[in-house]
Amino acid sequence: MTERLRIALQKSGRLYEQSLSLLERSGLHISKSRNRLYWRVENLPIDILLVRDDDIPHFVSEGICDIGIVGENVFLEASYSGLKGADLTTTLPLGFSHCKLQIAVPKNIAYEGPQSLAGMRIATSYPRLLEVFLEEVGVDAQAFEMDGSVEVAPRLKIAEAICDIVATGATLEANGLVPVDTVLTSQAVLIRAQADAGADKEAIITRLVKRFRGVIASEDNKYIMMNAPATAVDQIAALLPGAGAPTVIPLFGQEGMVAIHAVCHESVFWETLEALQEVGAGAILVLPIEKMML
Ligand code: PRP
Ligand code: ZN
Repeated sequence: MTERLRIALQKSGRLYEQSLSLLERSGLHISKSRNRLYWRVENLPIDILLVRDDDIPHFVSEGICDIGIVGENVFLEASYSGLKGADLTTTLPLGFSHCKLQIAVPKNIAYEGPQSLAGMRIATSYPRLLEVFLEEVGVDAQAFEMDGSVEVAPRLKIAEAICDIVATGATLEANGLVPVDTVLTSQAVLIRAQADAGADKEAIITRLVKRFRGVIASEDNKYIMMNAPATAVDQIAALLPGAGAPTVIPLFGQEGMVAIHAVCHESVFWETLEALQEVGAGAILVLPIEKMML
């Protein structure tokens, strides 16, 4: 019998929805039992453990799970704190849950670079990452660890500044804080133990990573087609964002006209379509790509 692979997933919060959607778009049929602790995948030897994001690096390094999806911020903080068990490695950036770990201060404070933080108490859930930053910029300040609600610390006079995750910036703004420095730019990543997981599990991990790459690529890629005079092909090829060699096919019964098909590896904006039309393209279609195997 093949050993079942265990994936650690955030049970709720910033990463949950998109992590789950990535797994489902990668072809995993997940039987979502009501207990929200442990889900079984019906069509592959995989089980999913739903846990707190801060626990994910530990679950993976201690071998309770084989791989995990977690924010790079949580992964790096855990790594700097010294994980027990096998050392971890990131296998793949997943392209969602983009955020920044930033230093923020109350609006009325004059900030003139990291030196302004000297002597301050900085509230954060990421003390290790903050300490590394402070050391790099050579500033003597104190990281004050809080598990949550970091943004209220300055108002409660617990700290003069904070170092916290910023996505839209709404939380900072609601609390009268402004971001002044970036400690880390982060996104969701796939993590695993460095040690070999055994032939069965390694084979599933390889398959999953390949599918994840395909899903991520298909999101960024669009299929574009249009008709145009053959004389405009060079100009059109130059306008297509991140496309390789386009396919050019003669149009039946229309002398000098061709159909151009290409996969664009970047977003196709309205401005691009307008520019294509200006050089003679017509009947322009932009289609989403469902799957890619690269
Ligand atoms: C972060 C951070 C803020 C919020 C910022 O928490 O602590 O509360 O997100 O987002 P915004 O810039 O869009 O307002 P997170 O969701 O990571 O939760 P956690 O700290 O409980 O893991
Ligand atoms: Zn968390």
